[in-house]
Amino acid sequence: MKILFIGDIFGNAGRRALSERLPSLIEENGIDLCIANAENIAGGRGVTQNMFRKLRRYGVHVVTGGNHSFSIPDCDLGFMNYNEVLRPLNYPPGNVGHGSTVYTLDNGLAVGVVNLQGRIFFHESLECPFRMGNEAIEELKTITPIIIVDFHAEATSEKIAFAQFVDGNVSAVLGTHTHVQTADERILPGGTAFISDVGMTGPEDSIIGMSKEQVLKKFMLQTHVRFEPSEKSPMINAVILDIDEQTGKALSIVRVYERLGNFNESL
Ligand SMILES: [Fe+2]
Ligand SMILES: [Fe+2]
Repeated sequence: MKILFIGDIFGNAGRRALSERLPSLIEENGIDLCIANAENIAGGRGVTQNMFRKLRRYGVHVVTGGNHSFSIPDCDLGFMNYNEVLRPLNYPPGNVGHGSTVYTLDNGLAVGVVNLQGRIFFHESLECPFRMGNEAIEELKTITPIIIVDFHAEATSEKIAFAQFVDGNVSAVLGTHTHVQTADERILPGGTAFISDVGMTGPEDSIIGMSKEQVLKKFMLQTHVRFEPSEKSPMINAVILDIDEQTGKALSIVRVYERLGNFNESL
């Protein structure tokens, strides 16, 4: 089966890039399931119910999150209990939402999805992603051999360590969060596909999504500056996985880095 996994969708540029291109990308590549990290779709921070509905219309089946999953007002968080919406599993108990799910396709094929957050360079005090992730994977394995992990983390070492830890037990460990696509995609010895970071689906002409002028000002002056998402040069960063349905092992992982041109020009 073919799975398309989309890197952090950032703001309006990312959402519009998907509205224009996702249906044809799915069609051209014979995609069976589309998973997208949407932690930055709502103006750079968080995902709302309205945005989730739009993504579903474009062809996304399951949405994952990260450290920005909780960056929207409490009153808007109820939809995070939907089966198709994940936030990192290893936040303290009591938070809304959940960190793993099973999505069943129309043909009956079940796919487990797990969302974890790393602990290096984050402010949050989180449970151990290795131990919690392993528990969730063991549970999912009783239902399906096809399991995809979104490991949302800053440090490549932590993402590689987790992938090596679960190699052979899951179909793929896909890094998210840095917004910069890495070129280290590979299949580990046990059959788990891996990439340190899938990258960002958003404005390429920016500083990891935000307006470059504002971020530069912050670096230069070291004072508070309000960041706004850039709208310039939308791109799609993703990977396409081919997975053996019987064993859950990965057969291939291919990067997608597609530029759509400025919307001002293309619309
Ligand atoms: Fe992000
Ligand atoms: Fe993040």
